[in-house]
Amino acid sequence: MKGTSCEIAVLQHVDEMRAFSTKCRNENRIIGFVPTMGALHEGHLSLIARAKAVCDVVICSIFVNPTQFNDPKDLLLYPRTEEADIDLLKNAGCDVVFVPAVNEMYPTGQEVRDYNFGTLTSEWEGRFRPGHFNGVITVVKRLFEIVLPHQSFFGKKDFQQFSVIREWVRRDEIKVEIVGCDTVRASDGLALSSRNKRLSSEQATLATAFSKALLFIRENKSKNNVNALIAEATEMFIEKEQIELQYFTIANSETLEPLEEISEANHQVALIAGFIGGVRLIDEIELN
Ligand code: PAF
Repeated sequence: MKGTSCEIAVLQHVDEMRAFSTKCRNENRIIGFVPTMGALHEGHLSLIARAKAVCDVVICSIFVNPTQFNDPKDLLLYPRTEEADIDLLKNAGCDVVFVPAVNEMYPTGQEVRDYNFGTLTSEWEGRFRPGHFNGVITVVKRLFEIVLPHQSFFGKKDFQQFSVIREWVRRDEIKVEIVGCDTVRASDGLALSSRNKRLSSEQATLATAFSKALLFIRENKSKNNVNALIAEATEMFIEKEQIELQYFTIANSETLEPLEEISEANHQVALIAGFIGGVRLIDEIELN
């Protein structure tokens, strides 16, 4: 079954999902997988398009994973738009959408393993969302065991998540190729995110300060001194009292270790996170 805009299978149960994927594998069809938590936007659809370009069958999951939310209020407020999401996926030519209930994903309770990859898991998101990556890896591992993908596609807006998953796959010798895809932005630069649905239009305009600060970093990276550069870019947030920055850094894009100087010797990424109103946003820009 190759996806067209008029057919999509909606599967809810682990057994039927795994049976479908096993059949595809037996037929030597390459499975591309896009895991999501729904509230889909153009960023997700770009992952589907990327998967469609290189795989024979494209599977998307929609599962708001409780074990990766360290803040119960955030989980409660996470936007849920399943019907609209399925329509978008259908039109994007996705073949199958897997929409399991919590007890399908966690039949024996919501246990998570502890993953410690040093800075990769302990800093940035790891520091401000303790346990977050344990929940992410736990659910992605379970999804991979059900969906049996050859390739899985992740947006680089969640740059640290992409890096952590890539490292976990490398360490545990998981036979899935992890494909990182560029952040998709609105015309004003705002990185697309499911959380943007919770911003007022005034807050969404304010939120463009994140991408402007990141762009400033990239345009001025020849200044080399990271502290000076970050201090200058942070001035963009002065008089924007509604924005509460959590971190703003330039890091080695492999290890996510913070850098003091930008040099030709390594690749760098600038990472930023903060709250606008009650909404937490993150963004990234690669500097090479
Ligand atoms: O990026 C997300 O939407 C989630 O963290 C993921 C990868 C689907 C795991 O729940």
